Amino acid sequence: MIDFTNKTTVITGGSSGMGLETARRILQAGGNVVITGRTLSTLEEARSSLIQTDADAANRLMIAESDTSDLDSVVNTLEATQARFGRLDNVFANAGIGIFKPLSDLTVEDFDKLININLKGLFFTIQKAAPMMNDGGAILMTSSWTAHRGVAGAHLYSATKAALLSLARTLALELASRRIRINSISPGYISTPIVQKIEMSPEAFNVAAAQVPFERWGDSDEVATAAAFLLSEAASYISGQDLIVDGGLVGAHNFKGGEV
Ligand SMILES: NC(=O)c1ccc[n+]([C@@H]2O[C@H](COP(=O)([O-])OP(=O)(O)OC[C@H]3O[C@@H](n4cnc5c(N)ncnc54)[C@H](OP(=O)(O)O)[C@@H]3O)[C@@H](O)[C@H]2O)c1
Repeated sequence: MIDFTNKTTVITGGSSGMGLETARRILQAGGNVVITGRTLSTLEEARSSLIQTDADAANRLMIAESDTSDLDSVVNTLEATQARFGRLDNVFANAGIGIFKPLSDLTVEDFDKLININLKGLFFTIQKAAPMMNDGGAILMTSSWTAHRGVAGAHLYSATKAALLSLARTLALELASRRIRINSISPGYISTPIVQKIEMSPEAFNVAAAQVPFERWGDSDEVATAAAFLLSEAASYISGQDLIVDGGLVGAHNFKGGEV
């Protein structure tokens, strides 16, 4: 069902974690993929990893050093995609960062950085990409389980992610006449490099896992499978929706008490 032959997908934040694994899925399904990120060395490592598992992928993969919060760099990447592959079908607006602090500690600089990358950058990526996309394409945005539940210290991060649920619903209407679908995906606790960057202790890692009914963190490829589905024509009648991929975290309170 999932076939990306002759389709071109841009994945922002595609050099690591869930974006990287989604790139792998789409390449394996025959598609052309452009992955972006701010760090050239990480992009080059990602390319080696993707080509290692699929030698033919080298001809269908492009890396682009691009900061999603820099509009010129976003437009350059979209134009380079069309120049290289001659078409743009899908966009996975996945690049994002997390800043988690008590309310009193969040600075104006933190605010601007989070909004510029997680919301403003994502919004203008979609605005600039939509006119270049072929009719019948798909857009997917990475939201978060924290858009669905309150989490201490995640106030502004969660707000940037919650905004995407609204964007999916409204843009689904605006893009429907061109049969462009737009959805979001809300990962739960997924073990990716972003988690190492926030320097979570082993104890905190285990406490988080204990909140999940499946009692473990998810892997990037478990989200990538769902992301590839939503970007593919297998999801041809799904638009304006959010798919939570979280081992049951949002849907159920993992109560471990005795008799009640
Ligand atoms: N891991 C989780 O538990 C979890 C849960 C819910 C939601 N999410 C969301 O999932 C998305 C992917 O995160 P991940 O966990 O896969 O993290 P990751 O492994 O750290 O990957 C993040 C990717 O985004 C890129 N990136 C960051 N800022 C960027 C920018 N300004 N412009 C372009 N690329 C940028 C990074 O590359 P560079 O740093 O080189 O730019 C990297 O390729 C994020 O939106 C995150 O908020 C994660």
